[in-house]
Amino acid sequence: MGRRALLLLLLSFLAPWATIALRPALRALGSLHLPTNPTSLPAVAKNYSVLYFQQKVDHFGFNTVKTFNQRYLVADKYWKKNGGSILFYTGNEGDIIWFCNNTGFMWDVAEELKAMLVFAEHRYYGESLPFGDNSFKDSRHLNFLTSEQALADFAELIKHLKRTIPGAENQPVIAIGGSYGGMLAAWFRMKYPHMVVGALAASAPIWQFEDLVPCGVFMKIVTTDFRKSGPHCSESIHRSWDAINRLSNTGSGLQWLTGALHLCSPLTSQDIQHLKDWISETWVNLAMVDYPYASNFLQPLPAWPIKRWSLTLSPKLECSGVIIALEPGTPD
Ligand SMILES: *[C@@H]1O[C@H](CO)[C@@H](O)[C@H](O)[C@H]1NC(C)=O
Ligand SMILES: *[C@@H]1O[C@H](CO)[C@@H](O)[C@H](O)[C@H]1NC(C)=O
Repeated sequence: MGRRALLLLLLSFLAPWATIALRPALRALGSLHLPTNPTSLPAVAKNYSVLYFQQKVDHFGFNTVKTFNQRYLVADKYWKKNGGSILFYTGNEGDIIWFCNNTGFMWDVAEELKAMLVFAEHRYYGESLPFGDNSFKDSRHLNFLTSEQALADFAELIKHLKRTIPGAENQPVIAIGGSYGGMLAAWFRMKYPHMVVGALAASAPIWQFEDLVPCGVFMKIVTTDFRKSGPHCSESIHRSWDAINRLSNTGSGLQWLTGALHLCSPLTSQDIQHLKDWISETWVNLAMVDYPYASNFLQPLPAWPIKRWSLTLSPKLECSGVIIALEPGTPD
């Protein structure tokens, strides 16, 4: 992410009443010396402590006094009591170590910001299970899986860190998150503006709700990624849906699809929507992890995986041998 974008995001979350004293931390984050080469590999998570904090299962009601252990990670190698800061990752839907491993940005900037890195796990994920193995048993147990409860967990954890770590008490905290975690970071700044001086919401679909943005906007972005990555790439995918429909109309077509896609069991016409959803999900995931460097977030992938993939296949097979081979519908 460019420095300007970063600064804009931070500024948009600066409340008018933010005190002058807290602003230097944000200014520092806005003028970081990030690598000028956007394809350079971000730092990888190295050394952190795994800790647990006792949270209330329900922050808002009166019916239960139950608690659970929330996992969080702390890396304080570059942290300075004087002039330092706390970067707080608002964990999203997964094992927190996964996000810790894949948020190189925080590791990249830790030294320059003299920052303590904290990665807080989202309740109901990883090891932070409010009811242990029963957490997903029924709606009664799942009742406390809400973003409101998760934000309250983060607030309690920040209070705890400031109370218990000597030197942390008056330090500025900046919430950071990606995707749903980015939504949480932004919402945290909105709901708890006294606890964090700013939030960095990366790839966060904060407005991606019904009636707020056009329905197809996400898929348009996915299509653009493919369109830019190779000639005829998005067109081939576009045409493939009709090709699959045509093939699914005949027994021999279904049989051909089963073989061409190496499916475990013979495809039936009832499976077709499922199959298309599955293929579509693959394109979407690939677009989401089309990073400029090799990564291992959803799967091990090279840099710019969409482009790499388009180029390594012969022109006739660009994008995907299977999809193009379906053109114009004559199984071989
Ligand atoms: C890891 O961090 C701990 C605590 O901050 C420190 O004592 C230890 O030396 C670090 N290890 C490495 C290999 O950097
Ligand atoms: C995080 O990275 C370490 C070191 O590469 C790896 O062993 C571990 O499996 C990763 N954990 C997750 C949850 O991705």
